[in-house]
Amino acid sequence: MSSKTRLELTWIGKEDRPRLEPRILIEDPSKGHHAASRGEGDIFDNMLIHGDNLLALKALEADYAGKVKCVFIDPPYNTGSAFEHYDDGVEHSLWLSLMRDRLEVIRKLLSPEGSLWITIDDNEGHYLKVLCDEVFGRQNFISTAVWENFYGRSNAAAISPSHNYVLIYAPLGQQWKYKRNLLPRDEEAASKYKNPDNDPRGPWRLGPIFAAEERHDGLMYAICTPSGREVRPPKGSHWRMVEPDFWRMVDEGRIVFGSKGDNNPAVKLYLNEVQAGMVPRTWWPHGEVGHSQEAKREVQALFPGILPFDTPKPERLLQRIIQIATDRGDLVLDSFAGSGTTGAVAHKMGRRWVMVELGDHAVTHIVPRLKKVIDGEDKGGVTEATGWQGGGGFRFYNLAPSLLEADKWGRWVISKDYNAAMLAEAMCKHMGFTYAPSQDVSEYWKHGFSSERDFIYVTTLSLTHDQLRAISEDVGPERTLLICCKAFNARSEDFENLTIKKIPHAILARCEWGKDDYSLKIASLPEREPAPKPESNPAAPAKKGRRAAVDAPSLFDEAEG
Ligand SMILES: C[S@@+](CC[C@H](N)C(=O)[O-])C[C@H]1O[C@@H](n2cnc3c(N)ncnc32)[C@H](O)[C@@H]1O
Repeated sequence: MSSKTRLELTWIGKEDRPRLEPRILIEDPSKGHHAASRGEGDIFDNMLIHGDNLLALKALEADYAGKVKCVFIDPPYNTGSAFEHYDDGVEHSLWLSLMRDRLEVIRKLLSPEGSLWITIDDNEGHYLKVLCDEVFGRQNFISTAVWENFYGRSNAAAISPSHNYVLIYAPLGQQWKYKRNLLPRDEEAASKYKNPDNDPRGPWRLGPIFAAEERHDGLMYAICTPSGREVRPPKGSHWRMVEPDFWRMVDEGRIVFGSKGDNNPAVKLYLNEVQAGMVPRTWWPHGEVGHSQEAKREVQALFPGILPFDTPKPERLLQRIIQIATDRGDLVLDSFAGSGTTGAVAHKMGRRWVMVELGDHAVTHIVPRLKKVIDGEDKGGVTEATGWQGGGGFRFYNLAPSLLEADKWGRWVISKDYNAAMLAEAMCKHMGFTYAPSQDVSEYWKHGFSSERDFIYVTTLSLTHDQLRAISEDVGPERTLLICCKAFNARSEDFENLTIKKIPHAILARCEWGKDDYSLKIASLPEREPAPKPESNPAAPAKKGRRAAVDAPSLFDEAEG
């Protein structure tokens, strides 16, 4: 075996990586929505982006790298139904490539204290785990929660599936446990604490006094019960406290021996002294977080008149995740938004949110759903549990078209769809500057900044030597300016405080241009080798071939989550 061999998952096309263009986002104010008045703590800068999530995630990178506290994604589960005509290996490979590309940008967006949560089932779940190990590091795998999404029984199945997985990763690895939140103690857990002896310290329950393994550092002593019986730690165990502490706790009434004083001792654990909440477990029964039918009912109740959405998640599931992963005001991202459950729940819980959705349901479902949440008209889901009454808002965005388009000679030129402001904003993004055009007309050359003293000026003009000299004098010796223009008449060393570059030449090689669809239509895939033909039957309809698949859904259109 070569020493270079490493443990990894391989698939067809793993080496092919998109060179993504960082697009700007164009707001469509007609589709955003805001509450009429502003209440304390209301959040208005939430974002809904309509478009492919790979480009959208890339578009977010400049402003949101390291800032997202919780990413929840519920990608299409790749149940295979989109791929009748294609080779299995290609199908799984494509899905893995699509997920890998998105996960790599998500990794950059995640805050160092953040976490990623992915719902998935058996179709791809185990491959996805290995893929995530590769992208996030195996040491950053936290756990797989098992969500009981279906409590019925399917007689058609060999073994009736009743769960989905929730894969959880965090850049902090196991240290994340010091950052995550506990779950509120539910009534059932709290009801285990009682106060039959009116203990002034409040309700209590009995806890164990021995711990596993023998330890001889003062933890193997013998005591006498009030009835006079000697008690030692059972074989293979030790006392949880040293002897002086044991007797102090007896004096304080924190250790009991039963009504006859003859039982093995037990410790009283007081409700007000145990952790403020419960450590989350990996088993998430439907009674706690809802099931798929509950999710469908929630969405149907919101849109009685319109087409149901097939694969929503229940609000209680998102509430659990957001509760564990975030605090009020933190940012939650969902780049496979579907009907908008994540944003709806994040909003009700006072978190900021960004959602991305490719399908038209961004407009037909998510916009009206969030409007209802904001207007306090959504009474379902977790509204009551969160005490939500309405408020806040969101902005709606589309992805800008590619900055460059090919002219009739096949040369890349600035797209006609771009006006001056869009061009300046896009160039800022490409060159690593923050877009912040100065409102002062005398500072027309300040379109953005990378530091307090370094600025960028974007123009489609050809700049003469005199114009450049005037700008250089304005900028002065204390500041520097990057000029991106159509052409210029100067040598690079002429002006010490200016760096001058031509558009589009300066950015041409940075990424791929004019590519809008990263969800890969399956029509463009290699087709499965046809099986040997059986005796031909002239009456049978022609076998569907490559053309027949042209209208088939894209891999990520086939929502099954
Ligand atoms: C399983 S659904 C998510 C359901 C969602 N969790 C909910 O509660 O409604 C997956 C969603 O991902 C969307 N999607 C698939 N490919 C996408 C892409 N490339 N960019 C953005 N969204 C995509 C689908 O349109 C679908 O709405």
